[in-house]
Amino acid sequence: MDILVVGSGGREHAICWALAKSRHKPKLFCAPGNAGIASIAELVDIMSDDISGLVHWAKTYNPGLVIIGPETPLALGLADELLKEGFLVFGPTKDGAQMEASKDFTKQLLLSSLVPTARSVTFTDSFKAQDYLKKQKAPIVVKADGLAAGKGVTVCETLAQAQLAVEEAMDKKVFGEAGAKVVIEEFLEGEEASILAFVDGETIIPMVSAQDHKRVFDGDKGPNTGGMGAYSPAPVVTPEMNKQILEKILKPTVKALRNRGIIYKGVLYAGLMITAEGPKVIEYNCRFGDPETQVVLPRLKTDFVEVCLAVAKGDLKKIKIEWDDRPTACVVMAAHGYPGSYPKGKVIEGLETAAQYPDTFVFHAGTTTENGKIVSNGGRVLCVTGMGDTIEKAIETAYQGIRAISMEGAHYRKDIGWRALNRKNTL
Ligand code: AMP
Ligand code: GLY
Repeated sequence: MDILVVGSGGREHAICWALAKSRHKPKLFCAPGNAGIASIAELVDIMSDDISGLVHWAKTYNPGLVIIGPETPLALGLADELLKEGFLVFGPTKDGAQMEASKDFTKQLLLSSLVPTARSVTFTDSFKAQDYLKKQKAPIVVKADGLAAGKGVTVCETLAQAQLAVEEAMDKKVFGEAGAKVVIEEFLEGEEASILAFVDGETIIPMVSAQDHKRVFDGDKGPNTGGMGAYSPAPVVTPEMNKQILEKILKPTVKALRNRGIIYKGVLYAGLMITAEGPKVIEYNCRFGDPETQVVLPRLKTDFVEVCLAVAKGDLKKIKIEWDDRPTACVVMAAHGYPGSYPKGKVIEGLETAAQYPDTFVFHAGTTTENGKIVSNGGRVLCVTGMGDTIEKAIETAYQGIRAISMEGAHYRKDIGWRALNRKNTL
């Protein structure tokens, strides 16, 4: 069977890698892919947000399944266009993608179905937003409503910061139209965790839990990034917590979507705060997480092609999904300057050495090939995942892999998994 994967990051490399292990031996295509993906899939030179180009390619090559990685093509309606042409698609339609593309849409949906989340108010008028802020206390969180490449959320320590965040989003329009509406919400205290779930419109199968590290520097300091590393499982998600997440959060959310006529197929990613009062939704994403996918999929024991087909066909209740008990951890190598501006075209060495270590998976994120050499082509360049009998071993394996790789100006966090280690040490 031919499968097209849309996207070019570490997430898509992990998706292709998991598909390539299938007993069905699919022929993989990836648009546009990267230098690592090129070793397991045929690259298709079409950008992931070129909806008409991708539909045209699908009509020409007729893949048996299309898996859409990033949020932008989902929010632009790629799944809708492909479904209209009769293709099987893994990834929600445009209305389902609003779960990520509009924070206000999600807030309304959560409120109406009594799913626990931070209290919030949405504004379309900056005067009203500023007026509201005057009566609030810090810390408080200001969020641009639309997609802002992970930069639209400001956790404000002071009200002055919150006023500035509203001004930047609504008056100065630093996020363009994405900031025309702003959600101001209560600051939640607790520990974060990501729960990604396979959803086929009705049946929900949560994956093993994960936790990512969004800040660029050790100790969770510095600006937010797309994610500098992750590990799975997140010990804060106990079996009891898992039950609560399924019953109080995921089930009512999918039901509320259905009530609005939205048959959501793909991955529903819940960004959660585990608070003293239980799990609460921080945000939803309409896709696999990056880098969570790089720690979750290596733990999947069930044939990934079968899982994806079951999601796309609405057959999820017919399969059982099994996971490896061994924990995983991944470390992201980023280019000099990331998450600010960064150079491209830096030569990456040591990839083969790292890939030869046992229980080590090297996933490319922003890479390409130039004059026969693999060079950087993005801010997050690659991600090394380690697996082990314990979380300590998994972390050690990931770091052994990343230390074997070198690139001028590269940086990575040295403390991935610190919360899991701390928790163990204090038990
Ligand atoms: P997001 O871009 O929605 O993933 O948010 C970025 C980060 O902001 C999250 O990972 C949280 O660490 C933080 N955050 C967002 N909303 C809240 C909230 N209501 N309370 C506390 N922290 C939050
Ligand atoms: N790791 C965060 C995300 O994928 O949105």
